[in-house]
Amino acid sequence: MDKLIVHGGSTLAGSINISGSKNASLPILAAALLTDQQVIIERVPDVSDTNYMLQILSALGCEVERYSGTVKITAAKIIPDAPYELVRKMRASICVMGPLVARLGRATVSIPGGCVIGDRPIDLHLKGLSAIGAEIDNQSGNMNIEAPKGLTGCEVDLRGKHGPTVLGTDNLMMAAVLAEGTTIIESAACEPEVVDLADFLNSMGAKIEGAGTRRITIEGVRSLGGTRHTVIPDRIEAGTFMVAGAMASHDGITIHRVRKDHLSPAIEKLEEGGHLVEFFNDGKSVRVTPGEAPQGCNITTTPHPGFPTDMQAQFTAMFATTPGISVVEDTIFPHRFMHCAELVRMGANIKTDHGTAIISGVEQLSAAPVMASDLRASAALVLAALKAKGTTEINRLYHIDRGYEHIDEKLLLLGAKVERAQGSI
Ligand code: EPU
Repeated sequence: MDKLIVHGGSTLAGSINISGSKNASLPILAAALLTDQQVIIERVPDVSDTNYMLQILSALGCEVERYSGTVKITAAKIIPDAPYELVRKMRASICVMGPLVARLGRATVSIPGGCVIGDRPIDLHLKGLSAIGAEIDNQSGNMNIEAPKGLTGCEVDLRGKHGPTVLGTDNLMMAAVLAEGTTIIESAACEPEVVDLADFLNSMGAKIEGAGTRRITIEGVRSLGGTRHTVIPDRIEAGTFMVAGAMASHDGITIHRVRKDHLSPAIEKLEEGGHLVEFFNDGKSVRVTPGEAPQGCNITTTPHPGFPTDMQAQFTAMFATTPGISVVEDTIFPHRFMHCAELVRMGANIKTDHGTAIISGVEQLSAAPVMASDLRASAALVLAALKAKGTTEINRLYHIDRGYEHIDEKLLLLGAKVERAQGSI
């Protein structure tokens, strides 16, 4: 197991490129199952989650080729059973469910296990699929999904207790593209990753309208064909480096290959905190410079276009050394505060209670051996370590490798002093 050693206190400068979005890539890769023709997907980040997804697709019978960010998949002959050994490694593997049942009329997919960021039920995924005619049976930890008479479009409201579901919307959209008739998803998730999946499916011949709004209309078609698609930039990776620029640079850092329209909540909170965020004219590059008098602010995570839960931990790390009191509430995953205990070990003053963290900014954090607990929590620890006095060891680096492509190399490019080493606990 790798660990990251971060020698704190260096000043970041220069520029980096953002990779393709992990969370857009995963359902798009799964959607390749919907056609027997070849699909070519560009800018797929080389992270362990996309690797798991490609392993699942191979196990399902797909031919997969991958070179420098481009993935070619042909799902000519596939089987409906997703193996537990692979599915259990990544929750997002449940997004093979919709495409398999749409293409083959049946699927067996293991129920994903627990998750450190909190309860992650799949009731809404199942609600969506059963509304369009799938019969679902849960046996020995597997879901057997069958649609012997095919799928039939209808109107489904996918709103859950914590709002819409991103992968649940994706799963239903992927199943409905080959259903008979029209499916309308009410209370759909409208994250940019859902829009990217809809664009991909439409380029294969699907008829989807309204992606990016709360109501998506899908007119079923008989079959889908091959396509070529470029994945959108990773807005969470971009936001993470924007926070790095505000926390650990002097004259700012420049971040290329971003989409301004996907970053509004991060921009708004960095500016409210007193930092300078300047986009180039094309909206595809941004320079973030620390403010002279940064101040804490309050954040409440909500579904898009609100502040993303996936950026909560990184902003919490920034607030740890921002003067004043900041209050961060996560309404989507109220238990997603594992990073706070580790930040406290580094000297932060944070109290968590019922889905809320109250952070009183301290002048300086100090290095400590810390443990990554999930993907975004690890990113928060890296940010804190850049700013801390001394050398921080971040153990269980595999969490960060799930979703940040070559993070150590990108940090080195910006002048950080980081090393990847073996032998984590
Ligand atoms: N929910 C239900 N029932 C369901 C599905 C979800 O109650 O059937 C609840 C969840 O427990 C949560 C809320 O609905 O409270 C939203 O969860 P959602 O289904 O939207 O999460 P997801 O689709 O499983 C994706 C991202 C997550 C991101 C969330 C929220 C991918 C691969 N994952 O998960 O990303 O946090 O949306 O935006 O797209 C990450 O990248 O670090 C990450 C965890």
